[in-house]
Amino acid sequence: MSFKTWFVKRSPLPEMWREHMAEYYAPKNFNIFYYAGSLLLLMVVLQFLSGFLVLAHYIPSVRDAYDSVYGIMYDVHYGWLMQYMHVDGVSLIFVLLYIHMARGMLYGSYRAPRELVWVIGYTIYLAFMAEAFFGYILPYSNLSYWAGTVITSLFKSIPFIGEWVTTLVRGGSGMSGDTLDRFMALHVTVVFMVIVGLIVFHILYLHKVGSNNPDGLEIKANKGPDGHPVDAIPFHPYYSVKDLFGFGVWLFIFAAIIFYAPTVHHIFLERTMSTPANPLKSLPDVTPPWYLSPFYAMLRAIPNKNGGIILMVVAVVFPFILPWLDRNPVISTRYRPITRIMLIIFFANFLMLAYLGEQPPLPKYFILERVGAVIYVAFFILLPFVSKFEPTRTPPARVRFRAH
Ligand code: HEM
Repeated sequence: MSFKTWFVKRSPLPEMWREHMAEYYAPKNFNIFYYAGSLLLLMVVLQFLSGFLVLAHYIPSVRDAYDSVYGIMYDVHYGWLMQYMHVDGVSLIFVLLYIHMARGMLYGSYRAPRELVWVIGYTIYLAFMAEAFFGYILPYSNLSYWAGTVITSLFKSIPFIGEWVTTLVRGGSGMSGDTLDRFMALHVTVVFMVIVGLIVFHILYLHKVGSNNPDGLEIKANKGPDGHPVDAIPFHPYYSVKDLFGFGVWLFIFAAIIFYAPTVHHIFLERTMSTPANPLKSLPDVTPPWYLSPFYAMLRAIPNKNGGIILMVVAVVFPFILPWLDRNPVISTRYRPITRIMLIIFFANFLMLAYLGEQPPLPKYFILERVGAVIYVAFFILLPFVSKFEPTRTPPARVRFRAH
């Protein structure tokens, strides 16, 4: 028996390769937005690598954490590269997550039969928020200290058990070495493993039902004599090669940021990350990183603390039920102009909220934050009605595809 036959008989890998790569038929009209999924996979691997390297030099103790991170930057060989890869990687992952989700909303990829692909994906997004928050605390800078204090104090609003939960999360009454220990454990083990597990499920669930496409057409409905959808091509080699090209272009962008603008005007790495934690020197306004600030803006939109928290939780939870709010038989917003306009307003409003969440708490921003919160919530409340009654255009019988 040749080595190849011996291996093929024992290993599930060749079968998995066939099922998920060589014989996974994907629609031939994917566009540039379809790079985000594979780029996210690449970024998660790179984040693991850079995280592993910084972890080798990081000391999780209140006394040494900040100095160890400083040491990685200035003393460790290529420490600055590992550090910037890890820090900038977070923001870039969120850039890709937002592109990936926006694509899903534009083309109706959350609709049946892909509801669970969406729900698992959105859970990954929430897990990334938690992962980023725990990582944010680890350098024990002054921003880490005060951001940790503010965010953990939100748990105090839970009725009856709020104080107890806050103490449990912090490992004491305030931020301390115990907080650092548990956040570090969560950051490098539990939450990271949950993210990896969910990504595996995300792709398995997608491959069970098949990919959507910009036209929102069900490609399996139109099969050729060979039994394969006429509007699809095997993922490997066609899309695998295309994704490799995407990796190349993306790595140039990633490298350019790391080498020439690693803090991206202090949006990717805030100034207050460069001073050690000081419980006696509170920061005037602690704002979260840009990727969480839309939700923070909504939290601030209501002057009552508990009211703000409820609005923020509702805003975070709404996208989960998106698949069940949309009731139009046409899937892609290419053929639903009203939903498309609503989505464009929704995206622009989300960007405005992100900007507002980074601003100091002034009355002029407060009014806009309220308007932004209303538009955000209105989108989800109006969708079931608009999607039911909106006029649509007839989608084409075959996917629209321009050969180059
Ligand atoms: C690290 C996180 C993620 C990774 C690695 C990832 C990976 C992927 C990949 C490789 C695909 C197939 C290629 C493509 O359609 O682009 C995909 C599809 C999809 N993802 Fe994600 N994803 C992530 C997060 C998310 C999130 C946060 C959501 C939504 C909230 C989401 C929703 C979807 C949907 C609906 C599809 C099907 C798209 C279609 O068929 O048109 N994903 N994802």
